[in-house]
Amino acid sequence: MTSTIIPIASGKGGVGKSFLAANLAIALAKLGKQVIVADLDFGGSNLHTCLGLNNIYPGIGDFLRARYPKLKDLLVTTDDQNLKFLAGDVRSPFLANMHHAQKMRLIFNLKQLECEYLLLDLGSGSAYNTLDYFGMTQLGMLVTTTEHTSIMNMLTFLKLFAFRVIERSLPKNTFLEEKLRKSYNLSVKEGILTVRNLLDELAEIDKDVAEQAEQKWTSFRPRIVFNKCKDPNELNLLPKLEKILQHNLLLRADFFGYLQGDPAVYISFQQRKALYKVNPTAEISKDIYLLADRITRLWKKPLRNSSSLLLNNAKNMFEQRRSGLGN
Ligand SMILES: Nc1ncnc2c1ncn2[C@@H]1O[C@H](COP(=O)(O)OP(=O)(O)OP(=O)(O)O)[C@@H](O)[C@H]1O
Ligand SMILES: [Mg+2]
Repeated sequence: MTSTIIPIASGKGGVGKSFLAANLAIALAKLGKQVIVADLDFGGSNLHTCLGLNNIYPGIGDFLRARYPKLKDLLVTTDDQNLKFLAGDVRSPFLANMHHAQKMRLIFNLKQLECEYLLLDLGSGSAYNTLDYFGMTQLGMLVTTTEHTSIMNMLTFLKLFAFRVIERSLPKNTFLEEKLRKSYNLSVKEGILTVRNLLDELAEIDKDVAEQAEQKWTSFRPRIVFNKCKDPNELNLLPKLEKILQHNLLLRADFFGYLQGDPAVYISFQQRKALYKVNPTAEISKDIYLLADRITRLWKKPLRNSSSLLLNNAKNMFEQRRSGLGN
């Protein structure tokens, strides 16, 4: 069985990645899918809390320290027989700084896990390791709110991800790698380095390598999910955002989901329980199920007109809820 891997990342912290990873995993399991949800937020692991589990399980740290030879022996069963949890580094401090060989071993072994969906809860920001977990698949999930800072941090994440993908596509120990590092260290006067600039600079040295790097980069198609939304009009920013993604980052992304801000989430965090146990009928519980259902139907397909689709869906949903028809 080849699993659909969904790494869940964000530029800014606190946007709801762990909440989403846990509750989407539960929703997918309830839809009958075999799911594993793994905590890859080393140094900040709290996925177990969102799942309503205690912090007692050996996890990835124990695998990397060779206390357990196989990741699958570390899978924790949950209330739902379709859902398993893989803990992070509770018993192994400083794993966020794991070295390259450990990371590659982890990535290889995560890909071997048998399930239909493997959800990865990542730490926020653009550390190399986080970018590499995000790059395990071409279709990662980015979570953001509609606030300016959150969107800007997401764009920074994507730009650094582009640089990382391009860097890893280059032949090793060549002049090209050196050139790339020099480009990263431009002085303020020289302006901001864009993905296009970087590829153009590479093309001046080796056209074929630059073309391959561009092809590799443009094969990624992240899916953006907006969380903590209050009003669908917040999504009016989508056409502009789409243009920025295409022009500045040479990237096509799909706008995949819209989740309401809801006090029920706060209560589930306070009570350290999964959302469906606290309030299965809350608006956000419905949003999570709609998103899980959408994932089962559409995750592997590129979406057309995703910005206008999401905006219309969000507006309809908002109207239905306001008039009481959505309940
Ligand atoms: N839809 C929502 N409505 C209301 N509050 C929310 C929602 N989603 C998340 N939150 C709140 O946001 C806070 C952060 O959530 P969470 O820990 O899942 O974010 P994160 O992105 O994983 O953070 P970190 O970057 O620290 O790992 C929590 O207190 C949670 O209650
Ligand atoms: Mg988190």
